[in-house]
Amino acid sequence: MASNSGIILGIESSCDETAAAVVRAGEQVLSNVVFSQIAIHQPYGGVVPELASREHLRAIVPVVRRALVDAGQSYQSIDAVAVTQGPGLAGALLVGISYAKALAFALDKPLIAVNHLEGHIHAVLLEERQHGNHLVNFPVIALVVSGGHTHLYLAEQRQETWSYRNVGRTRDDAAGEAFDKVAKLLGLGYPGGPIIDKLSKFGNSAAVKFASPQLKHPDRNDKSTKENGARFDFSYSGIKTAVLRYVETHNLQAEIENRRNHMGRINKPTIEDHRSACPQNILDLIASFQRTIVEDLIRKTLQACRNYNAATLFVTGGVAANNELRSRFELEARKEGIQVYFPSRSLSTDNAAMIAAAAYPKLIAQDFATMDFSAEPGLILK
Ligand code: KG4
Ligand code: ZN
Repeated sequence: MASNSGIILGIESSCDETAAAVVRAGEQVLSNVVFSQIAIHQPYGGVVPELASREHLRAIVPVVRRALVDAGQSYQSIDAVAVTQGPGLAGALLVGISYAKALAFALDKPLIAVNHLEGHIHAVLLEERQHGNHLVNFPVIALVVSGGHTHLYLAEQRQETWSYRNVGRTRDDAAGEAFDKVAKLLGLGYPGGPIIDKLSKFGNSAAVKFASPQLKHPDRNDKSTKENGARFDFSYSGIKTAVLRYVETHNLQAEIENRRNHMGRINKPTIEDHRSACPQNILDLIASFQRTIVEDLIRKTLQACRNYNAATLFVTGGVAANNELRSRFELEARKEGIQVYFPSRSLSTDNAAMIAAAAYPKLIAQDFATMDFSAEPGLILK
């Protein structure tokens, strides 16, 4: 049963990071171990699901062991095991879930299933609590912006239990996916977000005019609009196509192919390697692309904040690590009197500390998973 200390071992394996962490009472990170598979997927320009599952299998035991050692804990001393149930890649999720089940069963500890998106939201709360801030002013709007999601939630808390109403989502590509695809298209490598982030400051963001992403029609599949009020949806496949058109109309293909080959020969390229491989027109294109995405994310999110009278905004997920996104959000939200919080960069991208933090309210409420729960690749957050 749960002790008063609430020490939770979190396990995360939904995509290309094998992660384990130990967190006390949803507020103190005792360890946070992330084994990234980037080097394995890099040659393919994206995550290969089969390879991801195989690498998770290889890494999970040593990663969990390292998380316990770093935290000064043992298998016996933890109070519960928490694991990501979804959304994510089925085979990847199953590795974490099978291991977490075996561990909980062998140790006779409670098992807690966590939605990955709730984990990203709780990364913000974890970060704030670590800094001694336990006060959250409601209403709260949360933007989860990552490689797989661009979702807006209205988050509520009743006693310890959190609930979420989706008020916006991407109709096609996620913002992080657009970063990754555009970087690949320009011969820059994988994952694209951090590379575009660092290169953008060398380009002129006003050089290329992209139309701001438009939604041509209401979402016909969404029955919730009438019952739940206004929606604030995103769309990022159009801008990716616009970058492709730009490449074609400016005859950049050969130059891009040269860069792709050149970068492919460099082991662990630095940002200087990338920069010296990019002429000014490519740097301008990159900066203009990033500016368009950042402005659209901010505009729609602040519209949602106004609509729901939000006092607080959480911005989280891999893309929340983006420098321009962070600084522009801080500026624009402040103008509207909205308090904006981000996790630190290491808690923005996938990690298991956020899974252990999101599990803490469930430990208090004794909301435990049974041994027959399974991976849910399309799990919805509510
Ligand atoms: O949250 P995350 O680690 O995994 C998912 O749940 O998807 O997010 C990964 C995504 C990738 O698309 C990556 O390119 C993007 O986050 N990303 C960034 C930055 N760091 C990671 N995008 C823009 N700027 C960054 N600094
Ligand atoms: Zn994520």
